[in-house]
Amino acid sequence: MKPMKIAVLVGSLRKDSFNRCLARAVAKLAPPELTFDFVRIDDLPLYSQDMDAAYPPACRRLKSDVESAQALLFVTPEYNRSIPGGLKNAIDWASRPYGQNSFARKPAAVIGTSPGAIGTAIAQQQLKSVLSFCNAPQMNAPEAYIQFKPGLITDDGQVTDELTEDFLRGYMADFHAFITRVYTVLPRGR
Ligand code: FNR
Repeated sequence: MKPMKIAVLVGSLRKDSFNRCLARAVAKLAPPELTFDFVRIDDLPLYSQDMDAAYPPACRRLKSDVESAQALLFVTPEYNRSIPGGLKNAIDWASRPYGQNSFARKPAAVIGTSPGAIGTAIAQQQLKSVLSFCNAPQMNAPEAYIQFKPGLITDDGQVTDELTEDFLRGYMADFHAFITRVYTVLPRGR
């Protein structure tokens, strides 16, 4: 089967982001049918509807990155019990101009990590609500709320805890199955 490209949107802009480490880890643990494209969101201007008529180049690149992927993986921290503004800004750009929503019918999954005990659960629920409005079919289960402990994932994405590694491998296998199911009932281009 042809490989499927996954656009990865990491919600943190921080150089040493735990969520970026998690994103690298799940990319390594995914089935071989999935390939990963890390989408840049740190150079986007703040969204304004005034720019709908002439999208800036970075925003056109974002839409193209999303549209050329078969599915979307969001890996996000929780900021003040919601998603970071930078990620919401990227979603707003890619969802517009009106009638040109790049997320429509793209299978999506949401995962995240935080040193906090609930591991981004509230941010993920809010993101799922946003993605519902954007008409992206979402994997409901399994959910993945990863509490980050020092050393849990190395900078290059090696998971040091066997149970967490097994869980993340299973999560990505389920995501692959979910994407396949979505395209079975909703063939591409419809
Ligand atoms: C946080 N952090 C945080 N953690 C959490 O579990 N729930 C929250 O609501 C918040 N709120 C919050 C707001 C802001 C503005 C910052 C900067 C941080 C802590 C956060 O989980 C921690 O900084 C992570 O390391 C951020 O993820 P990255 O950047 O490491 O991927």
